[in-house]
Amino acid sequence: MTQPRGQFSSKIGFLLAAAGSAVGLGNIWGFPTQAASNGGAAFLLVYLLLAFLLAYPALMAELTIGRYARANVVTALEGLSNRPLARRAGFITGLCALGVAVVILSFYAIVAGWMLAEFLAPAARQLGQAGSSEWLAGGSFGRNALMCAGMSMLTIVIIAQGVEKGIEAWSTRLMPLLFAILLGLIVYVLLQPGSKAGLSAYLIPDLSRITDPALILSAMGQAFFSLSLGVGTMLIYGSYLRDSDNLPQMGASVTLLDTGFAFTAGLLILPAIYVAQHQGVTVYTPEGDLIAGPGLIFQVLPALFASMGSAGDWLALAFFALMSIAALTSAISLLEVPVSVSVERWQLARPLAAWLCGGGIFALSLLIIWQFETLFELAITLSTVYGQPLLGVALCVFAGWVLQRNHLLGELSKGHPEIEATLFWKVWPFYVRLICPALIILTFLQSLR
Ligand code: PFF
Repeated sequence: MTQPRGQFSSKIGFLLAAAGSAVGLGNIWGFPTQAASNGGAAFLLVYLLLAFLLAYPALMAELTIGRYARANVVTALEGLSNRPLARRAGFITGLCALGVAVVILSFYAIVAGWMLAEFLAPAARQLGQAGSSEWLAGGSFGRNALMCAGMSMLTIVIIAQGVEKGIEAWSTRLMPLLFAILLGLIVYVLLQPGSKAGLSAYLIPDLSRITDPALILSAMGQAFFSLSLGVGTMLIYGSYLRDSDNLPQMGASVTLLDTGFAFTAGLLILPAIYVAQHQGVTVYTPEGDLIAGPGLIFQVLPALFASMGSAGDWLALAFFALMSIAALTSAISLLEVPVSVSVERWQLARPLAAWLCGGGIFALSLLIIWQFETLFELAITLSTVYGQPLLGVALCVFAGWVLQRNHLLGELSKGHPEIEATLFWKVWPFYVRLICPALIILTFLQSLR
């Protein structure tokens, strides 16, 4: 027996869930560190341009296909046309998207586990458990596996509860909390000596970097990763929207929330780096670059917190709570991709599907933790540098070439006929058909030269 499909109960519920998917480690960690090592606001400018020129139209393609098909990514892409070849291509693309979602979640859950460990470590210290705190701050296989298991279980439990009671209810609780913690931390850090230099490094652009192909490719990858594109998460969230919801407005709000959050996170991270330098923490590599990536999150910031006396533990607690929450709301959207396929195609009960898919992905995470040196970077590069932009092209092609123009525009403007009459949306089908795929592929080729 087929189970009734879930639906978001309100606009704000969808917005917070989709923003929850988009706002994640990519915003708080990826964006500010890329901006720091790529000319500050120059990166921000290129990023904003790409987010609105490429990622937003691609996001609209996903949301529109999702609501049109009202199905998971595999069934949706397969069902856009009656022609056997297009159906087969849709099926295969859907499976690829599913595969990329699984790979992203398998490494994302590991990183989310590190965040949980760094959150629990100062908490344990405050409770007088120095031994546990040290174990949590270490990097043993046991710690990484256990923390990843913890994050995976939270994700599974939320997804097992369904769209309204799980995804929507938890995003609605967690997203405002996330924003409040971020603002609190920004205010605190900006009051510390040294922070102003960080603000200038972030906000004054080094325009000589703006045409650097490496910068443009990083910005494109970051925009696709940050908006959770190409893997069917936005498609499945779009499929849970109501017919009366205004799609372009929803998509624009999600893009604005996501870029706004990334920008705001930069106001925390860059000043924090300079405050750390002011406190005598090493923030440059021996080659003279700012320490980015894991070194920033797990050495520079913890050293900064440690230099701040007893306030440091509370700051660490707040910062890693921020990271853990951001990671959790993104992880749930990734798990929804395979779960929705299992529920809709194989009629599995949702809780069973959540535990089976979540358990399988956790096994993959364990494999990556075990063979970390070989598999971790490989999983990230394959899924985010290649998989997401290429699948982004594929989804634009499906929206632009396989779905008929009248169906595409009809779905986009359902309940809001005025949308179809605006010039922007009249041009958009042509844009997702040709310009968007061409721009993505060009950016790609440019970087390979
Ligand atoms: N958008 C998330 C972030 O910025 O951290 C990561 C992500 C979530 C990517 C969901 C892809 C996805 F489907």
